[in-house]
Amino acid sequence: MLQNKRITVSAPGKLMLLGEHAVVYGHPCLVTAVDQRMRATVELLDNLNLELEAEDVKVMGYKKTLSQLGVGDIPKGAKFVEIALKNINDKYPLKSGIKITTKSEFSSQFGFGSSSASTVCVVKAMSEILNLNLSNKEIFDLSFKTVLDIQGKGSGFDVAAAVYGGTLYFVTGGEIIKPLNINSLPLLVGYSGVKADTVTLINKVKASFVGREKRLEEIYSGIAMLVNDAKIAFLSNDLTKVGELMDKNQAYLRELGVSIDKLDCMIEAAIKAGAYGAKLSGAGGGDCMIALSPEEKKQAVINGINSVGETINVRTNAEGVRVEL
Ligand code: MEV
Repeated sequence: MLQNKRITVSAPGKLMLLGEHAVVYGHPCLVTAVDQRMRATVELLDNLNLELEAEDVKVMGYKKTLSQLGVGDIPKGAKFVEIALKNINDKYPLKSGIKITTKSEFSSQFGFGSSSASTVCVVKAMSEILNLNLSNKEIFDLSFKTVLDIQGKGSGFDVAAAVYGGTLYFVTGGEIIKPLNINSLPLLVGYSGVKADTVTLINKVKASFVGREKRLEEIYSGIAMLVNDAKIAFLSNDLTKVGELMDKNQAYLRELGVSIDKLDCMIEAAIKAGAYGAKLSGAGGGDCMIALSPEEKKQAVINGINSVGETINVRTNAEGVRVEL
């Protein structure tokens, strides 16, 4: 009787600091993990089914046999969990059914990477419950494969943030994943209230630069350069410099056509109120913006952002995936 073997793990959400879009094409980015977490409880069953409860994404009472994992229509909210389990099952064939219950501390609307965080939770929980002893890199690789199986596109930076936590210098596909030894960042986060889809935006950028590929390459190289400068500035705690680089990054993102009026207005309000710098964070088209603020200007910057959108309270540099006791 295998029942009652259960484990709960949690993984953090993420915020892109600098380097979005360029990182999809072989360039670096800087990403920080945020303290709003995704949780997954995994239990072994004495049947051969996947049972999934993911109320946050409106998946309740979802059930299918392990042999059917990845087959047929999969509800949007179940995709990442099911394909993660399929990838585990392909590599480490399961001998019993699995019940997975996910719960998020943050809305999947924010663009904090709820799909990647839930994927990482499932892989880590399965590693623990089956005693697979997967390393962080193995958890990253299996989770990133899952994301690519579903989305076809993406750099994996969000998966890395969920696995490793902290603040990372990251290059496409995990070619480099380097923790940056920095303290919590004085970062303020504003939510635009507009939901954006990453793959749509990646495709939009590509389509709008048809015939101007050289300029697109220049933009990506420019972004890569400022990410490398920002890494040095972060490590020497030169926040004025980081702020300048964020503004330059935002100018490139506007040229890519991924900013929207509401984000621009929130960014402008933050800078007017005294932020070191501000930019959108993630794919653009909506979701969130970030501002780096001197402590004494913090309330003014919050008020500025709130006059257009809504600030979200998050701490950066959060711990990576972990088992919850
Ligand atoms: C989306 O949050 C950031 C992108 O760079 C996509 C990715 O890196 O996977 C646009």
